[in-house]
Amino acid sequence: MKLDQKVAVITGAGRGIGKAIALKFAREGARVIAADLDHGSAASVAGEIESIGGDALAVKVDVSDNLSVDSMVKEALIKYGKVDILINNAGWDKIGLFMDSSEDTWEKVIAINLKGTIICCKALLPQMMERKYGKILNVSSDAGRVGSSGEVVYSAAKGGVIAFSKALAREMARYKININCLAPGPTDTPLFAEVAADNPKIAEALIKSIPLRRLGQPNDLANAAAFLVSDDAEYITGQTLSVNGGLNML
Ligand SMILES: NC(=O)c1ccc[n+]([C@@H]2O[C@H](COP(=O)([O-])OP(=O)(O)OC[C@H]3O[C@@H](n4cnc5c(N)ncnc54)[C@H](O)[C@@H]3O)[C@@H](O)[C@H]2O)c1
Repeated sequence: MKLDQKVAVITGAGRGIGKAIALKFAREGARVIAADLDHGSAASVAGEIESIGGDALAVKVDVSDNLSVDSMVKEALIKYGKVDILINNAGWDKIGLFMDSSEDTWEKVIAINLKGTIICCKALLPQMMERKYGKILNVSSDAGRVGSSGEVVYSAAKGGVIAFSKALAREMARYKININCLAPGPTDTPLFAEVAADNPKIAEALIKSIPLRRLGQPNDLANAAAFLVSDDAEYITGQTLSVNGGLNML
């Protein structure tokens, strides 16, 4: 198994892409800290992992809050003694034209998607640096690479995640810590369903423009994530991999 003996923190693990990553990593032998703002959903994912013979800990966390992240790290280290892998997957978006958007929305989008990623890296890096081993995968978005109308500030935050990851990958290379980004295209998750509920034709229109003619499934992202944090990807750092059915070719 690719991730045998590894300990992985996955934020936003309660549903969607994060849940698929948590289950995939557990099947690959990792011990999983399923962290989410919604403790109930994190606990149900941890339960699913245990029901297939895996080992998991559910933690409630708000990635945009330093103290909450510190307490997640403490819980993880008490239970497993180390964290080898961090997946910064928790994210949030509100669709709407930029000129109709409010400062409250900008702050929330930046706090969860960009600042949350920064906070979690800062909190988990020290023990990776000490052991000279670590894999960080930040979930960005194709919106952060090519821009997406109706998601202007979200695009800025996700673009920020990519730039942050590149710069941090340079600083952390000397500690043998790999830092990469995963950029999903439109993916069939509860977040996407909420967006599609307000814009019923959006899924249909998107599918027509995707060369592989379907939405992404959470497992498509989980499969790529398992490779990028494995030792098979030891020589890959500072990169962004789009998993998008060919929608954007970058
Ligand atoms: N679904 C898509 O089409 C798509 C496309 C591009 C990028 N993404 C990105 O992929 C990631 C996962 O998206 P998804 O579609 O699975 O979303 P989702 O909304 O289905 O799941 C996100 C999870 O994150 C949790 N979360 C939200 N705020 C949090 C916080 N402050 N602290 C901790 N947990 C928090 C939620 O409770 C939820 O369980 C996000 O970063 C998203 O921006 C998704």
